[in-house]
Amino acid sequence: MKTGGITLITTHTNADFDGLASLVCAGKLYPDAYKCFSGSVCSNVKAFLEAYPQGILKSRSIKLETIERLILVDTREKHRIGKFSQIADKTPISIYDHHPSQQDDLTGEKEEIREEGATITILLEILRKKGIPITKEEATLFSLGIYEDTGSLLFPTTSSSDIDSLSWLFKQGADLSIVSEYLEHKLTKSHLLLLSDLFKSCRLYKIRGIDVVFASAKPKEHIEDLASVIHQMMDIERFKVLFCFIETEECIHIIARSRVEEIGVGSVLSCFGGGGHGQAGSATVKGMLKKIQKMVLANLKLGERNLSFLIEKRLPKWMREVISVLSGLGTGVYLVGGFVRDLILNRENLDLDLVITGDGIEFAKKLSCLLPNSCLTCHRRFGTAQITLENKAKIDIAGARKESYAKPGALPEISPASLKSDLKRRDFTINTLAISANPKDFGRLIDFYGGITDIQNRTIRILHPKSLADDPTRIFRAVRFSSRFGFAIEKETEKIARDVARGGLKHLSYERLRNELILILSDEYPEKALNRLSDLGVLGFVWPGLVLKKGLFSKIHEELFHLAIFLEGAQTWVLWFLALTVGLNRGETEEVIKKLRFRAEIRKKVLEAKAKAPFIIKFLQRKTLKNSTLYKRLINLSDETIIFVLAKTKSLLVKKRIHLFFATLRKERVYLTGDDLISMSLKPSPKFRKILDKLLSGHLDGKIKTKEDELRFIERFLGRDS
Ligand code: CTP
Repeated sequence: MKTGGITLITTHTNADFDGLASLVCAGKLYPDAYKCFSGSVCSNVKAFLEAYPQGILKSRSIKLETIERLILVDTREKHRIGKFSQIADKTPISIYDHHPSQQDDLTGEKEEIREEGATITILLEILRKKGIPITKEEATLFSLGIYEDTGSLLFPTTSSSDIDSLSWLFKQGADLSIVSEYLEHKLTKSHLLLLSDLFKSCRLYKIRGIDVVFASAKPKEHIEDLASVIHQMMDIERFKVLFCFIETEECIHIIARSRVEEIGVGSVLSCFGGGGHGQAGSATVKGMLKKIQKMVLANLKLGERNLSFLIEKRLPKWMREVISVLSGLGTGVYLVGGFVRDLILNRENLDLDLVITGDGIEFAKKLSCLLPNSCLTCHRRFGTAQITLENKAKIDIAGARKESYAKPGALPEISPASLKSDLKRRDFTINTLAISANPKDFGRLIDFYGGITDIQNRTIRILHPKSLADDPTRIFRAVRFSSRFGFAIEKETEKIARDVARGGLKHLSYERLRNELILILSDEYPEKALNRLSDLGVLGFVWPGLVLKKGLFSKIHEELFHLAIFLEGAQTWVLWFLALTVGLNRGETEEVIKKLRFRAEIRKKVLEAKAKAPFIIKFLQRKTLKNSTLYKRLINLSDETIIFVLAKTKSLLVKKRIHLFFATLRKERVYLTGDDLISMSLKPSPKFRKILDKLLSGHLDGKIKTKEDELRFIERFLGRDS
C-alpha cells in the first residue's frame, strides 16, 4: 500500500451489477485509485467474480486513515457504504449516481448525478468522451449493469442514454450469452424455502384498482441476496406490485417491486427511512410486523383521495379534537399547506394551517371561543388570524385570497378568491395540497397542482416561472425542503433559481434573508442545504465568497452528539452560523450581523465566541489548572462558545477539561445558603457572595465535601478575615 493518502473507489454494500460495473468503469477514469467493495456482493455478482475476477479489494484490506479521497459510484447514501461512512464527512468525495436523493445523502465536491436507468450509463458517457478504450469483457460487464438495473430495458426509468450506451457496448463486443447467464438469479436451498414461505403468506389488496401483494416470512437463518428471491416471485407470478416483509430477530426488511407507474414503491417506503425508485425500493425497520404492514398500506392508500384515515392515525388526540371542533363550524374550511404535506410525509407538524372560503377573521373568532384558554391575534389588513392554543401550538387562519405583486419582491396585494386560486399563489406543488374539513366530505384530498405526484416522486417544483423572482425567499425554501425531505429540486425550477440568483436577488430584504437563513441553520444537518445554496449562487448574498469548511461542521456534529444531554438551552443554529462565518474576521462578521439585523443577544454570542475561542483554548492548555479556576473561566460563557471552542481545537487536554466542566463541575452546589449564613448570626453583605464562592471552589477542588466541612471552613474563614 502507498504511504501517502489513497483515492478509493467504492460502491454500496450488497453490490449489484450496476455497482460492480460502475466500480470497474470508474477505475478506468481514475487509474491510480484503489477499487474496493464496501461490504458484501449479491450472489449473482459473486458468481460472476469467481469466473471473471476484477481485482477489487475487500473493505477490510483498507485502513481508513490512509484514504485521502473517496469516489462513490451507484450510491451516495452514507449508511450504504459500510465502514467508509466513518470518514465520509471529513474526506473529499466525488459522486457518480443515478438514484433519487435520500435523507442521508452525502454531498460531493464533484457530482455527476442524473436519473438514468443505471449509473454505468453516466460513467460510460464520460469514458467515451475521453476516448478511453474498453475490452470485450468490460463491455459485457457494463452491459450487465444496464440490463440488470433497467429490468432488461423494461423499467420506465430506462433512458435513451441507457439504450445508446448498450448499443455502443454491443459494438465493443459485449457477450450477450454471458449477460443472460448471470442476469438469471441463482437460488440456493434457503432461497427456495423462503420463496415457498413467501408464496404461502401472500395477501392481496386493491389499491386504486391495482393488485398489490404483501408477503411475509421469518427465515430461521440469515439469507443473503433477498433481492433475487423477490425477483423470482415477480417473474413467476407476474405480480404488479409486491411488498415482501422479511422478519429477523432485530428488524424487518421490506423489499418492494412494482411494474406499474401508478404505484412507486420507493416513495411508499421513504417514510421508513428507506427509499429507491418507482420500480424497486427497500427499507429496514424495527417494530411489529402487523403495525408496519398497516403503515405501508396507509401510505399506499394516499392516492385514494380521502385522508381522514391519516388524520385518525397520525395526529395526536388534542389535534384531532381541534380539527373536529373546527369542522363543526360550517362549510368552506380547509386544512392546507405544510401541515398537509407533513401529514402525508408522516413528519410531525403541530401548527395547523387553515384556509376559509369566506371571512377568515370571523371564523377565527368563533373558533377561538370554542378552544379553552386560546389566544387570538387578528391581522385585518391581510385578512388573517392566529390562534395560540393552551399547549402553545398555533393555528393560522386565512380567508382564501389571491395575491398580485405590483412589482417583484414588493408586499403582495390581496383580494378574496376561491380555494383553487389561493393554492395557486403558493411556492411549490408539494405545498398546494388541501384537505376538506367540511362535514359533508371530511378528509377529501384536494390536489389541483399535482402535489401528490411530486411528493411521490420526491420533487420540489414551482407552480409558475415568475414564482422565484416574485419571492426570492422561495429559493431558500426550496433548498431547505430539498435537504430536509431528501427531495430533488426539479430541473426547470433549479434553472430559474440560478437565473434569479444571477440577477442579484434584487428584491429580497435582508430581514427575510435572515429569517430563511435561521430556518436553514435550525435544521439538523444544515451543511447540506448550505452547500446547495452555494451551488445555486445564493450563499454569496449572506457574504460574498463564503466558503464552507466541511471539517468544522462535522466536528461540531461530533461535539453536539457527545454533549447532547448537557445542553439544554443552546441555540444550535448560532453554532452553525459560527461555522458558516468562521473564515470572516471580526469586522466582516460584525458587518454580516448588522446587515442581517440579528438581535443584540445573538450579536453578543457570535462575537464572544469568535473573539474568545483562541484565548480559551490557550488557557485550557495550561499544564496545571485547578478545577475551580477552570470553572470560573467557563461558567460565564455561552454553551455555543464552549462547543465552538471544542470544535476548533485538536487538543485532547482542552477537550477533557471542557467535558469535565459539563459533566461534573457545572453541577456542583454548596449545601449552605444565604439564609443559613444569616441564621449563623451573620449580617447580609457582599461578603456572603464571597463566602459562598469560596465554598463552591472548595467543593470543586475537593477540599470541601460535606455540610460540616462547609461550616468548619466558614469558622476558619471568619476567624482569619474578621
Ligand atoms: N408560502 C409561500 N411562499 C413563501 C412562504 C410560504 O407560498 N415564501 C406558503 C406555502 O404554501 C406554505 C405556507 O405558505 O406551505 C405556509 O408557510 P410556512 O408556515 O412558512 O411554511 P410551511 O410550508 O408550513 O413550512 P415549515 O414546515 O418550514 O413551517
